[in-house]
Amino acid sequence: MSFQDKIAWITGASSGIGEALAYKLNNQGAKLIISSRRREALEEVKQKCKNPANVHIITLDLVQTDQLAAKAEEALNIFGHIDYLFNNGGISQRSEVTDTKMEVIRRVMEINFFGTVELTKAVLPSMIERQSGHIVVTSSVMGKFGTRLRSSYAASKHALHGYFDSLRQEVFDDNIKVSLVCPGFIKTNVTKNALEGDGSKHNKMGKGQQNGMPADEFAKKLIPKILKEKEEIYIGGKEIWGVYLKRLFPRLLNKMLRNTEVT
Ligand SMILES: NC(=O)c1ccc[n+]([C@@H]2O[C@H](COP(=O)([O-])OP(=O)(O)OC[C@H]3O[C@@H](n4cnc5c(N)ncnc54)[C@H](OP(=O)(O)O)[C@@H]3O)[C@@H](O)[C@H]2O)c1
Repeated sequence: MSFQDKIAWITGASSGIGEALAYKLNNQGAKLIISSRRREALEEVKQKCKNPANVHIITLDLVQTDQLAAKAEEALNIFGHIDYLFNNGGISQRSEVTDTKMEVIRRVMEINFFGTVELTKAVLPSMIERQSGHIVVTSSVMGKFGTRLRSSYAASKHALHGYFDSLRQEVFDDNIKVSLVCPGFIKTNVTKNALEGDGSKHNKMGKGQQNGMPADEFAKKLIPKILKEKEEIYIGGKEIWGVYLKRLFPRLLNKMLRNTEVT
């Protein structure tokens, strides 16, 4: 199995993980639709691809959920169908619960959860009709456990697991695969772009991300796991062990996290 001639729609493709994924899939012969809010950044990604002719741009804002059905229609019209929907666009948060405004909590949920859900619902009927498709969702290890300063982010990623685990059951007989991807620390601007409690941009590189896995290495590791149709995927450094500790020794994990710097 390979991505040759497969049609993949990647959200959050203007930087970080989505950008790295776009280059790798384009190298493997996939036809791409790349999306995020910033057209100029997407144009740069397109031009950096080995085969830019195979790359189409659709700008979208995951907060504007009422526009996502039309965006999906536009995407479906480009190549006629979508084999892989990579729901990767997202935003993080760096603030304590008591300092975080409700509007910030809602914004994180809108982008990471409702935007992802809306886009998926818009693409799903075409996959069901073709009895073929693969929905990939970028969650996080924060989708498996929570730490300080990330309450809304962890909640939004946990919500994705509940939703997409359920969807996986519903569409199994339609030959549609669902993969939840849980990165650990990946060296991107995710922390810089994270929201503080008042909604302003955090603008600092997190230590975890600074020392994290390069995004292109992450994408290289991810691709074979997607081709193997893995249902849940963990890629990162030793922080990945938190997933197993949560399952087997949750109190120990909580104690460890209390003593860990989590900026
Ligand atoms: N890096 C890590 O350590 C890490 C770990 C676990 C999970 N993740 C997840 O990985 C995914 C990608 O993040 P990243 O690390 O690559 O960070 P990033 O470099 O900040 O990329 C985030 C992407 O999401 C897009 N985006 C943000 N808000 C959006 C909105 N309202 N509408 C549409 N697109 C939006 C951004 O594009 P525009 O600004 O152009 O809209 C950008 O392309 C996220 O879901 C993140 O939660 C990352």
